Amino acid sequence: MTDPQLDAVQAQALDDISAARTLAELEAARVAHTGRRSPLATTLAGIGALPPERRGAVGKAANAVRRAVEAALAARTEELEAEELGAALERDTTDVTLPGDPHPLGALHPITQVRQEMEDILMGLGYRVADGPEVETDWHVFTALNTPEGHPARSPSDTFFIDGRPDRLLRTQTSPVQVREMQRSEPPIYLVAPGPVYRRDDIDATHSPMFHQMEGLAVDEGLTLAHLKGTMLRFFRELLGGEREILLQPHFFPFTEPSVDVQVSYVDKSGRTGWLELAGAGMVDPNVLRYCGIDAERYTGFAFGCGLDRIAMIRFGVPDLRLFFENDLRFLEQFA
Ligand code: PHE
Repeated sequence: MTDPQLDAVQAQALDDISAARTLAELEAARVAHTGRRSPLATTLAGIGALPPERRGAVGKAANAVRRAVEAALAARTEELEAEELGAALERDTTDVTLPGDPHPLGALHPITQVRQEMEDILMGLGYRVADGPEVETDWHVFTALNTPEGHPARSPSDTFFIDGRPDRLLRTQTSPVQVREMQRSEPPIYLVAPGPVYRRDDIDATHSPMFHQMEGLAVDEGLTLAHLKGTMLRFFRELLGGEREILLQPHFFPFTEPSVDVQVSYVDKSGRTGWLELAGAGMVDPNVLRYCGIDAERYTGFAFGCGLDRIAMIRFGVPDLRLFFENDLRFLEQFA
């Protein structure tokens, strides 16, 4: 090939290279101008066959063309790669300034908040938290709690029985946890057992077929009603305010003797004072200790049970119990 021909080869190659719009087009240009069958390759391959006096000049010129073409290819490759990367980034752009999807924060249910507060107060007095099944046997809910057959509390109009079986029921109180815990541990026992209970109560603003109780049980040597009273006073003062007074009024529960109602003082907005009945309590009946395998000569105990939801209503000023169970966010958000 003559010099003018080589110039033309170079000019064509450089034109095609700069005209390539994509890496694929550039690859086609590379094959056409530097591939094995390209004029440049054939020229370089044919140098050996030339008369010796021409070899040097043609070789030099052809190699200069090859270097120029290769340099142009490298430069254009870099440009096109940068362009394609830019285009890809453009396509996949995320606009970080757009407002995100709202992600509301959850909060504890007001009943859970009150439950945890009650647990904390009693744990501060050395109690531990215990748990028991919601589907219970009539032995744990009634018999071992000194509630004989024929007692009105066992009536099907108060209790949800499971599959019509008289021995399987939804617990109507958290007191069976006392039984389970006394059966499996030795005094001293200090425990609280919060959880749901079920009764076929009329459904109105203060009753629901499911509600929550918290049971407390202390069994030790030398416990008396004075310990119960002191515990109740401390508990309700920490929960509802230090100015509260408590009053124990005689009552009846089958599994405590004596039994009391725990009343807590309140002052309403207009300054009127009164008493709220907030817990049932009493000294554990020795029969119950014996049912549970505890030495009733050596140990005494006291127990108390209160309605968690009722206390939450007072605590938060909620007028209707059912609001707690409807899961209406407009209500729940107020406790977040
Ligand atoms: N379990 C009783 C109730 O549901 C409350 C209670 C608990 C009373 C412990 C005395 C001792 O009414």
